[in-house]
Amino acid sequence: MVKLSNMEDEKTSIYGEFDPYLQKVLDTLTGKILIYYNRIRKEEGIDLIEHFSARIKSDESMREKCVRKGLPVNAHSALKELTDSVGIRLISGFIDDVYRNVEEIRKIPDIRIVKEKDYIRHAKENGYRSYHMIVALKTPFPDVDGNNPGEYFAEIQLRTIAMDSWAALEHKLKYKKNISNTKLIVAELKRCADEMASTDMSMQTIRDLIFENEGREFGIRSTEGYNETASGRG
Ligand code: GTP
Ligand code: MG
Repeated sequence: MVKLSNMEDEKTSIYGEFDPYLQKVLDTLTGKILIYYNRIRKEEGIDLIEHFSARIKSDESMREKCVRKGLPVNAHSALKELTDSVGIRLISGFIDDVYRNVEEIRKIPDIRIVKEKDYIRHAKENGYRSYHMIVALKTPFPDVDGNNPGEYFAEIQLRTIAMDSWAALEHKLKYKKNISNTKLIVAELKRCADEMASTDMSMQTIRDLIFENEGREFGIRSTEGYNETASGRG
């Protein structure tokens, strides 16, 4: 019997009874982001988000992270000690758009900004660039601290397309074992990160020059005539 209950334990999500709320938190937050995105696209003709992805951290990864951080493997650690059970990544074409998204997110009602990290102005030593926000969302459902209405954390990562493709490649390095020329790869990655950062800045400057000449009338920044450029990627 003891064995059976242990097995049941293993099957239960680390998020426990709060598991079903996480998708709602994700959807609510995504919805709030799309509201300002659509408003700005309409009013200013600017596409602040090239695309986005959103995820709930899997049970397995969350358990692994609790262990790695020396936390008890339970719902409280997953939802209150760690803050990335819900994650959204916003990818923008230009650096200025990343910062405009940050500004707009700060203004969203029912969101409290818990922490921000600017790895764009202060790149990590390996070359990683991205803007991270930890936010707390007021919800209509209970949380693990016994608050009702409760509050749920989410991590929002904001970056340019260049930063995103770099991060995806660098991420692969962490999961590959027995790579013989790691030192060279790390150095090449760093070089690419710096070159991409420089290109991102040049692209921004070129865009600014174009807009200096052409003004900021509606539609000028919606490139190629597409109506919808923000779409979920799972
Ligand atoms: P964890 O890294 O999640 O334990 O938390 P932290 O306190 O170090 O937060 P940080 O804001 O530094 O990182 C949060 C997330 O950003 C990570 O889980 C990754 O998804 C991403 N990230 C941070 N640093 C890197 C990096 O060097 N390379 C890549 N590819 N992603 C990174
Ligand atoms: Mg980290």
